[in-house]
Amino acid sequence: MGDILATGDTILKVEAGGYNLTSKFPALYVKEDAHTGNPTVEIREITIDDLPPDDVLIEVHYSDVNYKDALATQPSSRVVQHYPIIPGIDLSGVIIESRNPRFREGDQVLVTGYDLGTAHFGGLSRYARVPADWVVPLPKGLSLWDAMALGTAGFTAALAMDALQMHGVRPESGAVLVTGASGGAGSMAVNMLADQHYEVAASTGKTALDYLAALGASQILYRDEVSVPSKRPLDHEKWAGGIDSIGGTTLEYLLRTTRYGGAIAAFGMRGGTQISTSVFPFILRGVHLLGIDSVYCPYDYRQEIWRRLGSDWKPSQLHRIAQNTVRLHELPHVLEQLLQGSHLGRTVVDLIRS
Ligand SMILES: NC(=O)c1ccc[n+]([C@@H]2O[C@H](COP(=O)([O-])OP(=O)(O)OC[C@H]3O[C@@H](n4cnc5c(N)ncnc54)[C@H](OP(=O)(O)O)[C@@H]3O)[C@@H](O)[C@H]2O)c1
Repeated sequence: MGDILATGDTILKVEAGGYNLTSKFPALYVKEDAHTGNPTVEIREITIDDLPPDDVLIEVHYSDVNYKDALATQPSSRVVQHYPIIPGIDLSGVIIESRNPRFREGDQVLVTGYDLGTAHFGGLSRYARVPADWVVPLPKGLSLWDAMALGTAGFTAALAMDALQMHGVRPESGAVLVTGASGGAGSMAVNMLADQHYEVAASTGKTALDYLAALGASQILYRDEVSVPSKRPLDHEKWAGGIDSIGGTTLEYLLRTTRYGGAIAAFGMRGGTQISTSVFPFILRGVHLLGIDSVYCPYDYRQEIWRRLGSDWKPSQLHRIAQNTVRLHELPHVLEQLLQGSHLGRTVVDLIRS
């Protein structure tokens, strides 16, 4: 009889020569339908042997749900590079086997982005194997649950706020507009900016006014107001900065209305991938358009942002934003809400109890 590697209520047992490869555990599993070619989603019992070989084996305690995870279950989304795939672009957990000297059994870690859940089996699984280069030690100040309440959404919002600050958008500069404000990344951006004493305006398509006010928004605009197309290259100067999770005509609006010298950090595409603009915001107002990518963010910068998320940038309303912690079997409902745009804040997925 082997030892139980006790982290939570783990089921994996070490036999004399290694892991018991036959112990089954659940994972969200997406494969292509043999007839239609469309992705089909199921919760499948798999074994460690089904995971790709890699440096580090992690017992996943928590994952979370991002818009990209919902897209991974849809036909023609281009998020998934090949099927079958276990989605889940984020995970947090405990290392149970490492072939890399930087990590040891028992280390608490998180992984976000890279190919996780898109070209490599992801976090919506009780166990995951990943390259050591993707693994970030859990920063001080965060629990494994906190790390996934934040996840890619919190990390991206922090990158966006950092980009605005590096381009001179300060609390005293004036109001910053966050679009898609009740979504995962939007909620995080509203709360982080408000915590840093920015005046925050939030645009939303929902009636989540109390929620956004509780996160720190002092002005709330309806989605239509900030997404109406216009032929005017410039409009009244309103915003010192913007954090845009929508793209399309919403980003066009921000470009028209951002004040002289202001900056917009953009990372989303819910409202479309094309924008129509002119050079005038850039050459007459010196507006900066800052692209934000969380996926391949360089490792040292990634670690620094996570350090801040565990300290002075940790959102004060993290538990209000991540009100839902669900098990794997509850995921289809949450994925549907994300696809419809009706999901509020963040949902954490508990793999230990799934
Ligand atoms: N570049 C990167 O590294 C990066 C990282 C993270 C996320 N993203 C992208 O950022 C976006 C947000 O991600 P997320 O995970 O926070 O998604 P999310 O939780 O689904 O939030 C998206 C929000 O957009 C708004 N929305 C929904 N449908 C819309 C529509 N048709 N038109 C305009 N607004 C709509 C909704 O907020 P309201 O009702 O409040 O308007 C929704 O809650 C996604 O496009 C995602 O792919 C990119």
